[in-house]
Amino acid sequence: MNLLINLDSSSTVPLQRQLYDTFRRMILSGELSRGQKIPSTRELAKSLGISRTTVTASYEDLLGEGYLESATGSGTYVSRQLPDELLRPSEVDLPSQVDGGSGPSYQAVSKAEKTEVQLSERLSWYGASLEEREWLKFSEQESQLEFSFGRPDFDAFPMRVWMQIHSLHARKRALSSLDYPSRAQGHLPLREALSAYLSRSRAVHCSPEQIIVVNGSQQAIDLVCRVLIDRDDLAAIEEPGYLGAQRALIAQGANLLPIPVDHQGLRVEVLKRKSLENSQRIQLVYVTPSHQFPTGVVLSLPRRLELLAWADRTGTFIIEDDYDSEYRYKGRPVPALAGLDKSGSVIYIGTFSKVLMPALRIGYLVVPPQLVRVFSRAKWLADRHSPLLEQQVLTDFIRQGHLDRHVRRMRAIYDRKRKLILRTIGELFGARAQVLGDNAGINVLVRFTSTLTDEEVEQRCRARGIGLSSTRQEYLVTPMQGEFLLNYGGLSEEQITNALSILAEIML
Ligand SMILES: Cc1ncc(COP(=O)(O)O)c(C=O)c1O
Repeated sequence: MNLLINLDSSSTVPLQRQLYDTFRRMILSGELSRGQKIPSTRELAKSLGISRTTVTASYEDLLGEGYLESATGSGTYVSRQLPDELLRPSEVDLPSQVDGGSGPSYQAVSKAEKTEVQLSERLSWYGASLEEREWLKFSEQESQLEFSFGRPDFDAFPMRVWMQIHSLHARKRALSSLDYPSRAQGHLPLREALSAYLSRSRAVHCSPEQIIVVNGSQQAIDLVCRVLIDRDDLAAIEEPGYLGAQRALIAQGANLLPIPVDHQGLRVEVLKRKSLENSQRIQLVYVTPSHQFPTGVVLSLPRRLELLAWADRTGTFIIEDDYDSEYRYKGRPVPALAGLDKSGSVIYIGTFSKVLMPALRIGYLVVPPQLVRVFSRAKWLADRHSPLLEQQVLTDFIRQGHLDRHVRRMRAIYDRKRKLILRTIGELFGARAQVLGDNAGINVLVRFTSTLTDEEVEQRCRARGIGLSSTRQEYLVTPMQGEFLLNYGGLSEEQITNALSILAEIML
């Protein structure tokens, strides 16, 4: 039998692979028909002038994958049933009309029998609540100078180091690391590294057992909602507050109790008063004490202690979202609530979204010992566990000191940008802009005096290539006019000055 096979000995594709590809193509295109006998390895090797080992290896691959079959003693044949057909579902002849009878084996539903069911009835309460409510509004198109998103400075990310650790782990993967791990809580070495990190940087002393690795703070918030909230439960939340938490709580059916924030953070005396006025227990209170979102104020130590004492007395869980506490520019950091907690009232949430990158999707929960089991089970039900490779890379990144070095370096970079933004706003706007929350984090809140509405400011900014969002969505009760969050972390110094001068032209 003469087969037309052309192999290219100068190609970088090995001959064995070229031969395999040629056979596969000829079989799938029908050039070689099913059941057809193909040359023996000796014959083919001789006619192509290549080694018999190469031909044998290609045949073995084709046999293994089911393109060829061999009959002992009589040779090798093209399979009668090709593997690709087994993978492709067969076409089904749908009846041409709903009530038509043309489809042979169909139990067609007549129009009269069909019940109209509203989508909302077909969804769960949770699904319907997500479907019905007004949702977060983000601009479709990102601007060149984007203040709206709280992203870190990617240019300064130590990508080379990260990739080195990454490829080391990818190369030396043990087969056991491909399996389901026995625990949902996350990679133990990472939890050990996190426990040491939290102890030295946040004064949070916890055992690795209390840590549950999750896919960013948002999954932590989602798990908190599932584990602690039933429909119509009362959840206290900062006003203004973080949309990611507000929406997750609402979707779970919570009734939100907005508690105002002033220059010392959450007004704990208002929380206490409202809790007395309400016949219903408050199920949880969600706070961002290190850098309140979006005002940026820091919850003072007396208020922290007052909040903890109240939570202990009333048996309320405090959810502490510590999303960007690594970046503090003035004074000694106030210990995290979880570090001051003596009664097991605080559920602490941390994330690597700001300190490293949001796409990593690694965050963690630190829960009091009595909640470890329930949160581990909730995580297991949600997604079994977070991906292992990234956790291994992050473990080494922390253990080898890269995280601490990166934070120190970034703190200096962000501090420069922060000073620039404060100085430029001062020069351009003077008394017509008040800046809040500049002690920490990678954003500042600015209250502008302007004759324009917030929507007009946003539209005009967008038309000039600046993405800027007012904080009105973050308020549950009365939004503050002229208040905007400027996320400067991801912008270069030049971009910051350009954006602010355009903003001044628009506003003044
Ligand atoms: C208050 C708050 N918590 C958490 C996050 C980070 O969320 P994640 O870890 O899911 O990326 C953000 C991001 O902007 C935030 O503002």
